[in-house]
Amino acid sequence: MAANKILITGGAGFIGSHLIRLFVNNYPDYHIYNLDKLTYAGNLENLKDIEGADNYTFIKGDIVDEQFVKGLFAEHAFDSVIHLAAESHVDRSIKNPTEFLFTNIVGTVNLLNAAKEVWAADFSDKVFYHVSTDEVYGSLDDGGYFLETTAYDPQSPYSASKASSDHFVRAYSNTYKLPIKISNCSNNYGPNQFPEKLLPLMINNIKQNKPLPIYGKGENIRDWLYVVDHAKAIDAIFHHGKLGETYNIGGFNEWKNIDIVHLLCKVMDRKLGREEGTSAQSITYVQDRAGHDMRYAIDAKKIMNELGWEPSLQFEEGLEKTVDWYLENEDWLENVTSGNYQKYYNEQYS
Ligand code: NAD
Ligand code: DAU
Repeated sequence: MAANKILITGGAGFIGSHLIRLFVNNYPDYHIYNLDKLTYAGNLENLKDIEGADNYTFIKGDIVDEQFVKGLFAEHAFDSVIHLAAESHVDRSIKNPTEFLFTNIVGTVNLLNAAKEVWAADFSDKVFYHVSTDEVYGSLDDGGYFLETTAYDPQSPYSASKASSDHFVRAYSNTYKLPIKISNCSNNYGPNQFPEKLLPLMINNIKQNKPLPIYGKGENIRDWLYVVDHAKAIDAIFHHGKLGETYNIGGFNEWKNIDIVHLLCKVMDRKLGREEGTSAQSITYVQDRAGHDMRYAIDAKKIMNELGWEPSLQFEEGLEKTVDWYLENEDWLENVTSGNYQKYYNEQYS
């Protein structure tokens, strides 16, 4: 594939930074452009180890700015796009849905238009790869799994905005024959995740002996995948996935929230030299998330069978690595939890 100039959006965020690292290190013949607005969730510290690489360029910018996006495509004539930039936190979408509409929907359409325009002469060897979420499928209340063919049924402002962006990407494939790929992944965990999401928030609170806020009864179920395995899945789909297709990504690794937090407490007690059971005493049941989806579970057989991808890490091993990273990177945690984070935290958990 002659995909030399690749635009990755949202590369300073959690998943994007792991994807950028993988592409910059594994594909020296590609040039990777990282377009990121650097919102509260974007952090160039995540990419310190590769920021000087010859095949990497950072561009600060907002995908909601139509003229800026058009100008960028006109200047660089990217061969491919891997689009991750998004507002990604469900709780924030409940507080401020409009921002999700702008970045996740308008931003995606701006990128689609710019790609369509600059590639108009020739779509061959081009790919617009849209990174999405399993939350577009809604909530599973009993057995069963999300398949690529499961009807969309988004339940939160976040998932509604991601579902809408997926529909636009498919509409551009159908209407304009834009060469697209989409993947829908389950919950990621690992280093560099902003501590508003369940695991890093709990790690930070355990470290500081703060209450561990469990929404509702803690019986909601999520399907967890190590972030580097998600990045490897994107790599496999980008290079070998079929155009126009959707691939579900997940680890067949379902956990009730309360069980995963208990396991985390146990791991952290051991690493912090505390007596087993100490951290779990801080578990506190708090008001449930509005419209809280009960269960997500991905059937990932398509990517496994067609592309040979599978998760490389067992969950317990991934969790150990994640906890080690947060304990070894106290500065990172301190930097991202200073300033506005306290304001967000107080509003969310008061
Ligand atoms: P994140 O919030 O950590 O990072 C998002 C990045 O996008 C940040 O660097 C931010 O600065 C950037 N960004 C936000 N608005 C922007 C704008 N208007 N213009 C340019 N850049 C902007 O998110 P994440 O968890 O890394 O998720 C990345 C993508 O993967 C998202 O599209 C998300 O929907 C999807 N996803 C996430 C998960 C998960 O568990 N985290 C699972 C499945 C899919
Ligand atoms: O499924 C993929 C999605 O996973 C991604 O698309 C989203 O970007 C990502 O944020 C994540 O969404 P969730 O809402 O599942 O993740 P979060 O970490 O916010 O919450 C995980 C579960 O833990 C959920 O059931 C709510 C619960 N929770 C969360 C927080 C922050 C708590 O019980 N207490 C908390 O303090």
